[in-house]
Amino acid sequence: MDISGKELAKQFQEKLKEKISREKHSITLAFVLVGKDPPSQAYVRMKERACSEVGIKSLKIELPDETTEFELLELIGNLNSDPSINGILVQMPLPSQINEEKVLLTIDPDKDVDGFHPFNVGKMITGDKHAIIPCTPLGVLKLLEAYQIETKGKHVVVIGRSNIVGRPLANLLSQKRAYGNATVTLVHSHSKDLSNICKQADILIAAIGKPLFVTKEMVKPGAVVIDVGINRVNDKIVGDVNYSDVKEIVSFITPVPGGVGPMTIAMLLENTYLLAKEQNCSLS
Ligand code: GUN
Repeated sequence: MDISGKELAKQFQEKLKEKISREKHSITLAFVLVGKDPPSQAYVRMKERACSEVGIKSLKIELPDETTEFELLELIGNLNSDPSINGILVQMPLPSQINEEKVLLTIDPDKDVDGFHPFNVGKMITGDKHAIIPCTPLGVLKLLEAYQIETKGKHVVVIGRSNIVGRPLANLLSQKRAYGNATVTLVHSHSKDLSNICKQADILIAAIGKPLFVTKEMVKPGAVVIDVGINRVNDKIVGDVNYSDVKEIVSFITPVPGGVGPMTIAMLLENTYLLAKEQNCSLS
């Protein structure tokens, strides 16, 4: 059965739109885009459109490829101290002359809608209930919850160890929390016998950015497969999972597009709303 992230994201956004319409104060998210990377431009456009659909204002700041690290850090400093800005999202990847870690450290943790600041990562990893959870991992947890796919005691295999998806997701799923309590294995490019480990998964999560990497031979019949990949191949978007091959043997699978992607955007809107609420106690 397909897990429709598209449908669930729509429901989240409708509820959020309702809540935002009752707020006295406007909410603004700043997008910073450095350079002309076409996928990054497309992602920011989609995020901006979603903001306007739920009533979040967006401010897009586009900087040239040759922007210096100093210039970017200065801009972030200005956004940090601007009370009309509730959230800041610097789209990754950044040009090579800019140190991403420094950028993430400079964003005010209270405006960090991605949850990438080390302070927020620390809160999340230690299980703080008020931690901002990165958008894609949070979207995956919400999908599992909506489809009542229990994780307690299950063997979850996460493929990929990125700071954006694999690592936080593996951590969250192992925590003592709802949609946690799983036995988690994190595999990556240096793992031996990767295929056999994947085949032992009750829930298999692919987040490696390799088109159609997961095939039927790597999946246990009846397993749940979550595909986080968004890869462009000959002008077509495909996931990290060979969907048509794997679909026949699984109990649940997320399609690409229409699976995890829309949930990432919905959770970005949720995180922006949550941070705005915390910044302004009169937002209810
Ligand atoms: N680049 C790819 N995914 C993301 C994301 O979730 N947030 C930001 N800021 N950049 C990204």
